[in-house]
Amino acid sequence: MTKVNADLKVTAIEQVAEDTFTLRFQSSELAGQLKPGQFINILVSERIEPLLRRPYSISNIYNDECEIMFSLLGKGTHILAEKRPGDTIGVLGPLGNTFGYEKSFGTAVIVAGGIGVAPFPYLTRVLKEKGIPTVTFLGARSTSRVVRDGLENLHIATDDGSEGFHGNVIGALAEYMQTHDVDRPMIFACGPNPMLQATQSFAHEHDILCELSLESEMACGMGICQGCPIEHHGGGRKYTLVCTDGACFDSRDIIFHEHHA
Ligand SMILES: Cc1cc2nc3c(=O)[nH]c(=O)nc-3n(C[C@H](O)[C@H](O)[C@H](O)COP(=O)(O)OP(=O)(O)OC[C@H]3O[C@@H](n4cnc5c(N)ncnc54)[C@H](O)[C@@H]3O)c2cc1C
Ligand code: FES
Repeated sequence: MTKVNADLKVTAIEQVAEDTFTLRFQSSELAGQLKPGQFINILVSERIEPLLRRPYSISNIYNDECEIMFSLLGKGTHILAEKRPGDTIGVLGPLGNTFGYEKSFGTAVIVAGGIGVAPFPYLTRVLKEKGIPTVTFLGARSTSRVVRDGLENLHIATDDGSEGFHGNVIGALAEYMQTHDVDRPMIFACGPNPMLQATQSFAHEHDILCELSLESEMACGMGICQGCPIEHHGGGRKYTLVCTDGACFDSRDIIFHEHHA
């Protein structure tokens, strides 16, 4: 796989929910290589702060354009939201591993919290092309923050009860799984660590295959700075790096600690 490290042209930016945007940029080289679950590192601004690099999951690919989805949080995302078609951003990728969508399972059960929804439109599309059905559980603070595009069989849970299940997304998942006969499920989850921990527990209790896409502070994104360790008991090692061995992990291999919550 050839890494791309280049200034690339922004082709579109769109607000898709409250404080949530998609941004597309052009790169036939990256579009041809990136797989669901992988991410890129964006040099958000060279001018304001040279080291303002942030990792973003790939949310979809359209011909030679790649898309990311982000929600406004701090400095980096506020600068990104100001980008306009024709501007350039520094992009390094592809980074990280892919979701295990080639494994043997009957139904993909997607569990997303907040902006953790970002990698799933692309995963859903690739699974659809392979003829694998998807059911999606999306937790959001409120209905205004729900992203719907590119997702299938969507079940929404909101913290304020403004849409769907009133409560957290694991409640919606548990209710559905108890009342439906889901063919050989495999869970794919991305979101805040407390949600990932609860998903991990649910998957273990019900003996369901499960992958978690983890977030971590990242400086280099390529295994150099050693700044993104996670405790892990796969492959006989105690610690592994989220940026190179992940960000997608088998939930049985990950050990969460209280400070992750
Ligand atoms: C593999 C990977 C994939 C990611 N994919 C996406 C994605 O697809 N979309 C997306 O919006 N973000 C994604 N992130 C997070 C992203 O890299 C940035 O951290 C995030 O956008 C905030 O950047 P910022 O510069 O706006 O905020 P900053 O100025 O860095 O932070 C503002 C405040 O928010 C806190 N903070 C920073 N990051 C997070 C976080 N992730 N969760 C909670 N608090 C945080 C900081 O501690 C600080 O207090 C991903 C992270 C990783 C590691
Ligand atoms: S971010 Fe540098 S090693 Fe992972």
